[in-house]
Amino acid sequence: MSEKIYDVAIIGGGPGGYHGAIRAAQYGAKVALIEKNKLGGTCLNRGCIPTKALYASTELIQRMREHGREFGIENCPMTLNFARAVERKNKVIEELVGGIESLEKAWKNDIYWGRGKLAGGDAENGFNIAIEGETTTEIKAKRVIIATGSSPALIPAFNIDHERILTSDDILDPNFKIVPERLLIIGAGVIGCEFANIFATFGSKVTMLEYLSSPIATEEPMIIKELRKKMDALGIELHVSQNVLSIENTGSGVKATTCSADVPRDQIDSAEKFTYEADYCLVSIGRAKESSNLGLEEMGIEVDRGAIQVDRETLETNVKGIYAIGDVTGGIMLAHVAYYEADVAVANALNSLGGFPVTSKKADYSVVPATIFTSPNIGSVGFRRDQAKRQGIDVAMGRFPFASLGKAKCMSEEEGFLMILAEKNTGKIIGASCIGAEAPELIAEIALAIKHGLTVHDLGETIHSHPTISEMVMEAAEDVVGMAIHRKGRPSFH
Ligand code: FAD
Ligand code: NAI
Repeated sequence: MSEKIYDVAIIGGGPGGYHGAIRAAQYGAKVALIEKNKLGGTCLNRGCIPTKALYASTELIQRMREHGREFGIENCPMTLNFARAVERKNKVIEELVGGIESLEKAWKNDIYWGRGKLAGGDAENGFNIAIEGETTTEIKAKRVIIATGSSPALIPAFNIDHERILTSDDILDPNFKIVPERLLIIGAGVIGCEFANIFATFGSKVTMLEYLSSPIATEEPMIIKELRKKMDALGIELHVSQNVLSIENTGSGVKATTCSADVPRDQIDSAEKFTYEADYCLVSIGRAKESSNLGLEEMGIEVDRGAIQVDRETLETNVKGIYAIGDVTGGIMLAHVAYYEADVAVANALNSLGGFPVTSKKADYSVVPATIFTSPNIGSVGFRRDQAKRQGIDVAMGRFPFASLGKAKCMSEEEGFLMILAEKNTGKIIGASCIGAEAPELIAEIALAIKHGLTVHDLGETIHSHPTISEMVMEAAEDVVGMAIHRKGRPSFH
């Protein structure tokens, strides 16, 4: 048994855990980071980074296909090699994961490889954590942060066999190098739409089945309308309002059975059924929280449908001294939210111990940017129009198309637009949605503006360098008051 008593032990080395470990060390804490698989978690190994590395390949392919000739690249035959793109993706992951490990070591954090489990103790005397690896080790820590993340949701009727009926983990496996001739995707949420774009670009005939009446239903309808134009152009077949009831591996392919999503649950048996066939199927219908076998019940930590319950401001569980962050809490399942929550939990944990140069923090989720790497890509932050309406806010909207921007024209990036929402009477910015080149990067400036209560006038009066895509922000802000220079035909008001 180790004699060391850590200030903080973090279970899970994904974005929440590895970030929290470094942050705590920066404040001078002695940190143990426990990981059962690979540092970087879902995001680096099976999520954000591998999908964006593959997305980068598709972006290049699409630009060459759509614009190569007009850019003066002629007679350039293109043979797509998905295996090569996967190898590049694997290399990107390897380098980033290695980078995280060297950062942890540079901060002198102790990494324990194995499955961590709470094994008693309290905030006064410290918590015991058993780590089941090749051998079982036990360590003690004054504070614990649980950051065990999530994994693909598995529904028994979907018979996920990891051979033909796959999860995102299977498709992002370093050895998965197949481009299915026909790919069926269940769930047109963020994961489904990102993979549809990747595989349709590499040549799969993609069919998507979605329960709701729209793909990525959390985004502005105008944005999704624009996205669907490109999905059509890529030959992606989307069937909405489809309740997928079962999926089977037929030996040579897959078959999904659906009924209309309007059919009430107790009438499904007698309802008309539809079938869809393909060679492979990706199931992307959401994520399950990784909270089993962590000793939570024994410690009396509240869990609801797998999500560890926390005070949303402090991120402390109902057991004093134990915090939880990231996907496992069932909040907003994004890597940058896990990073942010790590900062809050670390500050509160160390502040409660005393003696560290940090004050307590309260989490604030009012400005969380979202980015979706479809083609074109999407970025959004703050209110959507219907949300603002529901809250009774009188909204003014500005909208600026990429086609009217000099830099976008130079780049042949004319698809899409940026829309900014502001309070009509004050001009205070409350939200923005964008589809088009660099949408996620454009949203970052607006996130800062919302966070600091800026108005459309503040953005419009800020000099943006020319020619840049960032001028979209200035023009869309000016358009809120009818003053965009490169847009005609709108009355101005102030
Ligand atoms: P995780 O990243 O899941 O990490 C948890 C870690 O804990 C894992 O390494 C796991 O092995 C470890 N662990 C679990 N149990 C134990 C235990 N008992 N002991 C020790 N270790 C344990 N988000 C974005 O913001 N942008 C994107 O572009 C994006 N793309 C995505 C694409 C896909 C395909 C997927 C699936 C997700 C994507 N996400 C994206 C979401 C993002 O990956 C997650 O929100 C983020 O990884 C959550 O971080 P986390 O630290 O909470 O958990
Ligand atoms: P999701 O919740 O975004 O989408 C799941 C979709 O499946 C929904 O549209 C839902 O209506 C549909 N669905 C559920 N059951 C169904 C059924 N029986 N039949 C038909 N459709 C059904 O979940 P997803 O795509 O799995 O992503 C999980 C999380 O990962 C998201 O919360 C997201 O935050 C994160 N993520 C973020 C990315 C980014 O930031 N770019 C990229 C990928 C994932």
